[in-house]
Amino acid sequence: MLSRTEIETWLQQTDPDALETLWRMADRVRKEYVGDAVHLRGLLEISNHCVRTCAYCGLSRHNKHLRRYRMTADEILECIRQIADFGYGTVVLQAGEDDGIQTEWLAQIIRTVKQTTPLAVTLSLGERPFEDLQCWRQAGADRYLLRFETSDPALYSLIHPPRPGRTAHRLEILSRLRQLGYEVGSGIMVGIPGQTFPSLADDIELFRRLDLDMIGLGPYIPHPHTPLGTGQITPTIHPSEQVPNTEQMTCKVIALTRLVCPEANIPSTTALAAVNPKTGRLLGLQRGANVVMPNCTPARYRRLYEIYPGKTTLSETALACRHSLEESLRSIGRTLAVGPGPRRRRANPPQSEETATRP
Ligand code: 5AD
Repeated sequence: MLSRTEIETWLQQTDPDALETLWRMADRVRKEYVGDAVHLRGLLEISNHCVRTCAYCGLSRHNKHLRRYRMTADEILECIRQIADFGYGTVVLQAGEDDGIQTEWLAQIIRTVKQTTPLAVTLSLGERPFEDLQCWRQAGADRYLLRFETSDPALYSLIHPPRPGRTAHRLEILSRLRQLGYEVGSGIMVGIPGQTFPSLADDIELFRRLDLDMIGLGPYIPHPHTPLGTGQITPTIHPSEQVPNTEQMTCKVIALTRLVCPEANIPSTTALAAVNPKTGRLLGLQRGANVVMPNCTPARYRRLYEIYPGKTTLSETALACRHSLEESLRSIGRTLAVGPGPRRRRANPPQSEETATRP
């Protein structure tokens, strides 16, 4: 098992030969625990309204440059039918923290999906009240994604102002989600201004402690209409302590995350593809990831879901591109998975070579 010190040393490692070893270890553990099949999750961005004011995110309520939309129930169900027809196993319903998404309205959509399709339903809707999470679980939702973004409390409060009059602790919400029987996903951004190597090692340790089912991580990408993107909010650390928001750094975090959470479903994220459209997506899959989340949002809305710049202009692996995705997966020795692809817990985890040879 990787120690905290080893994690931090790997994060600081820049020697290409040493990094090759890390990529190989991560790829081997990925193959051993979750196999060669890549799960596709059809992502539907159902609303870009948001009540929050996160300093990094383009959907922040303070961003007045964005036209807001909320998909209708009919539009959502139509897209979900297409996702099912294309043979995806899961639909991910994502939005800003939008109070206009009413509890019962969404519950009815979830019930319809569960009654009429074989899809697993993942929700990614921010910090909703416990009653909402419970209602949607009862309606049939299977999974919930809520990134903790950084485990450093000072950095978190700098970039993630609380909702006036409410205190919400993401870790508490994650444990509630678990109690409700959801598969639980979380994650972070890599290279947030003010993020240090020790704090990033803490994040990876926290993934392990939370025993997450899904872990999403991508590089932080500055958005010009946000306080963090313009430099209006600046961190106090020395530049030498700053974690870079690069493709390679993100790959190191993916690889280490695979090593500490071998059973987790880990996507190769759109943010990683955004920093390097040519290689990002496949590189992530070769360095620990086993999931891709093609964007299935209708184009007219997709360009408005601008969490960070560059995201919406990416030539996404949308519905029609399934074939080319299958081709590129084959080029790296991987296949397309079928079915909902939940986390599988192993009763008897494979023994590492080290323990296997011990008397
Ligand atoms: N750069 C990269 N990722 C971002 N996210 C939000 N804003 C940015 C950004 N500027 C990520 C957050 C959030 C997820 C939906 O998108 O981690 O949880």
